[in-house]
Amino acid sequence: MAAPELLTRLKPVYVQNRKYIGSKYHLLDFIAGVVAERAPGARSFGDLFCGSGVVASYFAARGMRVAAADNLYHNWLAARCFVGGRPGQVDWRRLVPIIEELNELPPADGYCTREYGGSYFTVQNAGRIDAIREAIADLVARRCIRPQEEAVLITSLLYAADKVANTCGQYDAFLKHLGAEPYSAEGVHRVDAMVYKPIQLGLPQVVEGPGNRVLLGDATDLAATMACDVLYLDPPYNTRQYVDNYHVLENIARWEKPELHGKTRKFARDPLKSGFSMKRQAPLQLDRLIGRARAGHIFLSYNNEGIVPDEKIIQALERRGPVEVFTRSYAIFGNGAGRSVRRPIEERLFCCRVVHPPTL
Ligand SMILES: C[S@@+](CC[C@H](N)C(=O)[O-])C[C@H]1O[C@@H](n2cnc3c(N)ncnc32)[C@H](O)[C@@H]1O
Repeated sequence: MAAPELLTRLKPVYVQNRKYIGSKYHLLDFIAGVVAERAPGARSFGDLFCGSGVVASYFAARGMRVAAADNLYHNWLAARCFVGGRPGQVDWRRLVPIIEELNELPPADGYCTREYGGSYFTVQNAGRIDAIREAIADLVARRCIRPQEEAVLITSLLYAADKVANTCGQYDAFLKHLGAEPYSAEGVHRVDAMVYKPIQLGLPQVVEGPGNRVLLGDATDLAATMACDVLYLDPPYNTRQYVDNYHVLENIARWEKPELHGKTRKFARDPLKSGFSMKRQAPLQLDRLIGRARAGHIFLSYNNEGIVPDEKIIQALERRGPVEVFTRSYAIFGNGAGRSVRRPIEERLFCCRVVHPPTL
C-alpha cells in the first residue's frame, strides 16, 4: 500500500463505500461467526457471487486465501482492485499523483455526457466521467499503467460516480427531479444532495496478498475450479437482474460505448442475465452448482423472500452432507419505489459440512 504521507492526500475509498443491493456488509459478523464456529481452522475462502466484494475483503483482511468471482465485469474489476492485487503490482507513489491529475480534468463532451448527462448524472459530472474514463483508457493504450493499476483507477472512478449518481442506489431508473429538493413533503426520495457535488476520485484501500484470485464468469462454470475450505454462495434471490440494476457502472467500466436503448439507456445485455434470477431456472442452477462445489464446507446466504423454495435448497445441500440453518432478522430498504422505508426480512445462512464428493 502507499507510503503514509501519500495516503492522506486523497480521500480513502473502502470496499463498502458503495450502494449495492444484497450487500452483506451489515451481516459480516453473523456470517463470520457461523463460519468460525462451523469451519474452525479454515484457511481458504471461495466467494462465487462476490458482488461488492465486502465478504471476500473481510476474509482476505483476516488472513484467509481468497478466491472471488462475479459475472459482471465491473464487480470483477472492483474485487480485483480490493483483494486481487499482489504486493508490488501497484506503484502507489506513482498512482496517487495520477488520481490527483484525473481529479483536475475539465469535463469533456463524450459518450457519457450524451447518454447519461442530465439523467443519471448532472451534465457537468457526466462530462468529468467522460474525461477521466478516456484518460484512463489512454494510459492503458500507451502502456503507462499495469492491469492492476487500471483496476484501481477504474474502481476509484466507479465508486466516485456512484456517489454522485441521480438514483436510489441502483440504475434500473434515474430520479426524475434533477434540480429539485432531495425529498418531497411525503418523504419520497427525489434527488440526493450528493448529485450536485463535483465527482471526486479517492484512493481505494486494498488488501494485497500473494495467494488471492479474482475470476470473471458464471458461478456454475467456475465452481469446479474453486477448491477451498469454505465456499460461500450468495446468489441473487429475486427476479431483478443485477445487470439491469448496475448497467450504467458496467457500461462505464467496459467502455465499449455500445448503442443504448429506451428511456433508461440500457445496452443489449442478454448474455449477462443470470439464471439465478429466473424462477424456473434458479432451483436447477443452484442444484448443479452445489453438486459441483469442491469445498470442505458450503455456506449459502438466502433470505426468506427468495425464489428458490427452502426444500429445494435443503435437498441440493443434503446431497453433499448434513445441513444446518442459522437465521438473523435484518432490515432492508423498502419497495424500490424511492421510499426510504426499512422493512424486516429473515436472513438465513445454510451451512453444509461436505462429506459426499462432487457430481460433475
Ligand atoms: C446477492 S449479490 C452478492 C452480494 C455480495 N455477497 C455482497 O456482499 O456484496 C449476487 C451477485 O451475484 C452475481 N451473479 C448473478 N448471477 C451470477 C452467475 N451466474 N455467476 C456469477 N455471479 C452471478 C451478481 O452480479 C451479484 O453481484
